[in-house]
Amino acid sequence: MKEPYYMAYEKRYQTVFSAGAKCWGHTPNDDVLYNTLKTWVEENNLKGKSIIEFACGEGACGVILSELGCVYYGVDVSPTAIMKSKKLLENYPNATVEVLDMVKDKIDRKFDAALDCMGLHMLITDNDRKSYLENAFNSLKENSPMLFFRESYRENGTYRGVVNSADEWAKITGDDYNTPMLRQVQNAKDGSVVEVYIPLVPARAKDKNGYIEEFENIGFKVEKFVCMDDSTAIPYSASIFVRK
Ligand SMILES: C[S@@+](CC[C@H](N)C(=O)[O-])C[C@H]1O[C@@H](n2cnc3c(N)ncnc32)[C@H](O)[C@@H]1O
Repeated sequence: MKEPYYMAYEKRYQTVFSAGAKCWGHTPNDDVLYNTLKTWVEENNLKGKSIIEFACGEGACGVILSELGCVYYGVDVSPTAIMKSKKLLENYPNATVEVLDMVKDKIDRKFDAALDCMGLHMLITDNDRKSYLENAFNSLKENSPMLFFRESYRENGTYRGVVNSADEWAKITGDDYNTPMLRQVQNAKDGSVVEVYIPLVPARAKDKNGYIEEFENIGFKVEKFVCMDDSTAIPYSASIFVRK
């Protein structure tokens, strides 16, 4: 039995692409994303080095990191997203992508750096988050950096208790993986706006202390915590720079 986030994402990508959308998540021409990755690559001397991206979606960061000269490996649980990212990255010989559940499938190689762009916050239960972060930690060589970009963030007022299941989260917040919501997507061919019904996939925001505690419990050193400006991708978010 697949986890609820698998079904929710797979269905979402299938629905928006069959409505004619070119893409749903980040695009390579997001200036803030591009500039953040460029600075991170330069500051950590990652040109020519191997980078794993968890929850890579449609491959936007793969394009940026490949353009910056990195050797890229992206993973995502959604086969439809991976199909899209494969196509987007076909002209970059140093980029590969694969379907993989970052919570369950252990990474058996060591990388020079790791990236997560709006991935961690999609995991709701404490156990899933811990398994994933341990997996990410173990995929890195000693002293390597990891960047969590645009993770859902609240200054205060986030739920501080333990969450054991998606049902428990739905009871706490009212957010579930099933209730359809009206969303608009732009058809890539004629520019028309098409309405689709897809669930607003639950996400779990943390405050600054909540994130820092979570990363430190795994063994990461938190080097920088940056509150981000509102964006079309997400209204309240933070980017967190950590190191193994
Ligand atoms: C908010 S989207 C971000 C996608 C992309 N990083 C971007 O910024 O456009 C979250 C992504 O997490 C992926 N995801 C959720 N749970 C996952 C898991 N357990 N393993 C791997 N990917 C997962 C989803 O399929 C989806 O592509």
